[in-house]
Amino acid sequence: MLTKPELGVCYYPEHWPESGWAEDARRMVEMGLSWVRIGEFAWSRMESEPGKLTFDWLDRAIETLASAGLKIVMCTPTATPPRWMVDKHPDMLAWDVEGRVRGFGSRRHYDFSHEGYRAECVRIARILGERYGKHPSIKAWQIDNEYGCHDTTLSYSPVALDAFRFWLAEKYGSIDELNRRWGTVFWSIEYNRFDQIDLPNLTVTEPHPAHVMDFRRFASDQVVTFNKAQADVLRELTDADLLHNYMGRITDFDHYAVGEDLDIATWDSYPLGFLEDRSDRDDAYRRKYAREGDADFQAFHHDLYRAVGRGRWWVMEQQPGPVNWAPHNPTPNAGQVRQWTFDAFDHGAEVVSYFRWRQLPFGQEQMHAGLLRPDGELSEDGKAVRAIATELESYTQPSDEPAEVAIVFDYASQWAWEVQPQDKNFDYFRLVLDIYTGLRKQGCARIDILPPTTTDFGVRKAVFIPGLFAWTEELKSAMDTFEGQIIIGPRTGSRTEDFHIPDGLSPGLNGIKVVAVDTLREDSPLLLSDGGHIQIWREVIETEWDVVETTRTGKAVVLRAGRLSYWASWPDEQALERWFEKIVQKSHNDDYEK
Ligand code: GAL
Repeated sequence: MLTKPELGVCYYPEHWPESGWAEDARRMVEMGLSWVRIGEFAWSRMESEPGKLTFDWLDRAIETLASAGLKIVMCTPTATPPRWMVDKHPDMLAWDVEGRVRGFGSRRHYDFSHEGYRAECVRIARILGERYGKHPSIKAWQIDNEYGCHDTTLSYSPVALDAFRFWLAEKYGSIDELNRRWGTVFWSIEYNRFDQIDLPNLTVTEPHPAHVMDFRRFASDQVVTFNKAQADVLRELTDADLLHNYMGRITDFDHYAVGEDLDIATWDSYPLGFLEDRSDRDDAYRRKYAREGDADFQAFHHDLYRAVGRGRWWVMEQQPGPVNWAPHNPTPNAGQVRQWTFDAFDHGAEVVSYFRWRQLPFGQEQMHAGLLRPDGELSEDGKAVRAIATELESYTQPSDEPAEVAIVFDYASQWAWEVQPQDKNFDYFRLVLDIYTGLRKQGCARIDILPPTTTDFGVRKAVFIPGLFAWTEELKSAMDTFEGQIIIGPRTGSRTEDFHIPDGLSPGLNGIKVVAVDTLREDSPLLLSDGGHIQIWREVIETEWDVVETTRTGKAVVLRAGRLSYWASWPDEQALERWFEKIVQKSHNDDYEK
């Protein structure tokens, strides 16, 4: 971790006349910015035709920024392959779920499975690494830009199909093994050969869940492999930190797995865009917080990326004013950018970098704010950033000890419950965020997010494992040695890795069984005896455990055995608050008994 957190900005020298670069760099430094990120969309300027490389402009841009005293994040430009690349590899474009080719003319127009394109990315990463890998001012490298954004993890193209069949053959070894483990005897789906297996789209009705689940795992693995190919090359050529900028609420690939090959996790924080575009909050909430954003959603991602980066994380793109891409794009409240920035630092961010330096008068994002207006004057939020830099000089970051409570967050569980929601309102991310939000209401300012590969829960007071698709050996062993409270469910452990209901039924703990599931319409939540409701999901339980919460009609919804609690349902806000109070009381009693 850095001794003092720092500020940065995203800059696009290729968008501006060279005559203005030095002045831009001077003003960045004058504002108190330490970092500048460049290059992530500049491939067409680096290589205007296949093999025609032009780096003199980039050399000069780097020298200008470096000599002003800025530290540089250099990017590989692989999120925006130039037009000639598509001519060279016409089959590199991804296909959508309806079987349509996704065209050129915006960005992220590539298929993670296309080996030719992957080789081009490795080639450009090598060229950049050889040229700039030892540059003393290039202190970090970003690979690509926002994997998965614009729905780009899953592709249903012929190249994805070939790669998927290969992946399946590697995983199962024989077609009989695949048939057995998937359970393809259902609806006579049995295959004779791997090359008969299609991608799980365009089927008449729902495809087989084990088939879709493997496709989701495969698609995630393709992102990991794509990233690793560039990371491996850069490792040979630079000692600088490697990172990626993940995007909020993108769950189609396993961020922990990508993070394993990198040094720092960064994420792109657009609080107002997210509230309008990808939040589950109701209209009243959106209206109330339209100029602030959802502080819980923000905090969750800070904590998530602290986990993905194994303690090292940044905000790479912080919204500095209105964005252009949400249904409504309000200006933030005065003081809001300051609050977002310090909130990230309070959660442990090493750097907060704003997107972007100057609002651009052309292109898709011409209505997106920058720290500077299109005429070059400081925007109101630009002025705020200048003041933040001054304030930062006397700021002390809180210590990074483990939080008292943690929640396990698992990407595979998100995929599994998208594959088989059982109720249209069952969304794993929302379940985890509800619990996270409820904990913040209880005053937990910091919550750790744990991957499903965690083997030790440490000295925490409580760990939540909601909605986990399938138990991992690691989590089971972490539970065995943990002395705090463990709150499990709903739905946890309700499938095997192969997407079967486990023989002993879920949740896979002694003395308790989920024997049926009752899902609840939006207009039919069930009232609890002590106040609040359960919603969306209720499990019918056979148990020897103590029943600690019931519905008005006596149906068990929370059960306990020693340090284990099982939530057989999804509580609403009021019920959640009460249940948390009980947990807090319980851990106080435990402390007292010790
Ligand atoms: C991010 C992206 C940036 C820019 C920004 C606009 O998703 O990484 O390149 O498009 O959004 O808000």
